[in-house]
Amino acid sequence: MSSKADSVGADPAGYPAADSASYRRTCAKFATGITVVTTLDSHGHPHGMTVNSFTSVSLEPPLVLVSIDLRNSILGHFISTSWFGINVLAEHQEHLSRRFSSTAENRFLDVNWRAGISGTPLLDGVLAQFECAVVQTFEAGDHTILVGEVRGAVCHEGKPLVFFDSKYRSLADREC
Ligand SMILES: Cc1cc2nc3c(=O)[nH]c(=O)nc-3n(C[C@H](O)[C@H](O)[C@H](O)COP(=O)(O)O)c2cc1C
Repeated sequence: MSSKADSVGADPAGYPAADSASYRRTCAKFATGITVVTTLDSHGHPHGMTVNSFTSVSLEPPLVLVSIDLRNSILGHFISTSWFGINVLAEHQEHLSRRFSSTAENRFLDVNWRAGISGTPLLDGVLAQFECAVVQTFEAGDHTILVGEVRGAVCHEGKPLVFFDSKYRSLADREC
């Protein structure tokens, strides 16, 4: 019996061939939080970008990773830095996600932040923060993976900003 998957070009395992659009659509079914990843350049200027590819990698030692598109102009700052920060956005901070994924000249304009132990910019009012020392960077496909060892971690009460199906969402109160 032939399935619909077969008719769109299934591989021997029976999965439809994943073109770029369906791959993206499928990835979008994985709900994530949203972070702003930050660093300081050699002139002391802050840089940051919106990232939802944040993943906790290891507990001992505490390692995290983010994945950055090779086409992003900000990438050079993260490749040449020894430190970076991860700021987990709270539900009222959609404007920060939009700002740090925009082409705004100065993304930090009117954004309150303080310098962490390494000088890394840490945003005020976020749900959680990690300050990380870079331990590894490597290319994977069209992205660079930045692996950091967590040297500082702080969290607060509150709800996260959620990204699901390419839209901003809030967490419902119901616990399962
Ligand atoms: C919700 C959301 C999540 C994003 N996650 C990532 C990510 O994980 N990696 C990435 O390279 N870009 C991600 N982006 C896109 C970047 O934020 C955006 O391309 C970047 O800020 C461009 O900066 P630049 O052109 O100044 O380098 C995301 C954007 C949004 C809105």
